[in-house]
Amino acid sequence: MKKRILCFVIVVCTFIIVRAEGADSLALTPPMGWNSWNCFSCDVNEQQIRDMADLIVANGMKDAGYTYVNVDDCWQVGRDADGNIVVDSVRFPSGIKALADYIHSKGLKFGIYSCAGSLTCAGRPGSRGYQFQDARTYAEWGVDFLKYDWCFDEAQSPQGAYRTMRDALRASGRPIVFSICEWGSSKPWTWAKGVGHLWRTTGDIINAFKGTVHWGGCSVVDIIDKNADLYPYAGPGHWNDPDMLQVGNGVLTTDENRSHFTMWCMLAAPLLAGNDLRNMDKETLSILTNKDVIAVNQDKLGVQGRRYMKIEQHEVWVKQLADGEAAVCFFNRDEQPWTFEYKIGKDNYHFADIRFWELEYDVYDIWNKNKYLGTSSDNLSFKVPAHGVVLVKLTPKNKK
Ligand code: GLA
Repeated sequence: MKKRILCFVIVVCTFIIVRAEGADSLALTPPMGWNSWNCFSCDVNEQQIRDMADLIVANGMKDAGYTYVNVDDCWQVGRDADGNIVVDSVRFPSGIKALADYIHSKGLKFGIYSCAGSLTCAGRPGSRGYQFQDARTYAEWGVDFLKYDWCFDEAQSPQGAYRTMRDALRASGRPIVFSICEWGSSKPWTWAKGVGHLWRTTGDIINAFKGTVHWGGCSVVDIIDKNADLYPYAGPGHWNDPDMLQVGNGVLTTDENRSHFTMWCMLAAPLLAGNDLRNMDKETLSILTNKDVIAVNQDKLGVQGRRYMKIEQHEVWVKQLADGEAAVCFFNRDEQPWTFEYKIGKDNYHFADIRFWELEYDVYDIWNKNKYLGTSSDNLSFKVPAHGVVLVKLTPKNKK
């Protein structure tokens, strides 16, 4: 009898654990949207966020797939006597629900920010001790996405803290994408599948192409290197998050912006624009909304690209796509342009080496409106600008 009870308990516990870690259908492709932090930092307010939503619709970003409008830190100022989170009523006089309603009325989704510690990174009230209450509030407001930070963690276990909030969000009854922002310290890629839909892999992105800064901020290239080996951990519903985009924030050159965006697409990264959309130039918009490049990011197979070859400053990355296709990115980290002659049998690089399948491919230049370049048996030549990329798509030849 005892044995039967024990078996029953084991079966029930297994069921509960499997259910708790089970996948849902949110974020089957990397989430796309906009977030306030990279351009506005703490200086957020409701009019500015409404403006962003209006612009995302008007400038074509919504059509290109940008869906979430996310307010980062600094919307919250305290807690009331019942423990409810209090919104900054000077900056958000209509309240967060009205803002979420407005964003929903535009056919977009609304995201918010909190922290697993007792304070957020900007010193505002965090959710520690209030996880279920906060999650209920978010659901009442119509929140669709929660970014959950890791400042003032007070030596909690990240696994425990993020599971608690995951459970709180589930208990709220509203489907909410859960973005883990723990900066990669505990290797969340090894434990966060089934906990969050995306997890930051590094410290904060800085507005620079190369280099690092003393507090742990990482440049574009630095983040790419830190994500290169993480491809086995990404897939539909669970993504490595190399942080929000710095495209259009005034420091990167056009080629660098394009490389940054392309490599985030190759990495199957969430695409959260981080620039002020009110004064975006045409070039930035054309980068952020290039549908052919975005298609590489949003490919339904959900495979993260990997670095296939690296010869000093020259790299070849490959991302397997659905239907036997592949995206190949030639990434030049060098200060000098790189001319890459692809000749069968005469060069170090061959598409034949890159192949995963014994096939011949048609080759298309993705940034150039998918212009046909020839087949993988032809001699091809690519000019890759300094700090730039060339991105091609390989389509199995004679594919119907
Ligand atoms: C941390 C996060 C950033 C941003 C700030 C807000 O640094 O990593 O992305 O959310 O906090 O204070």
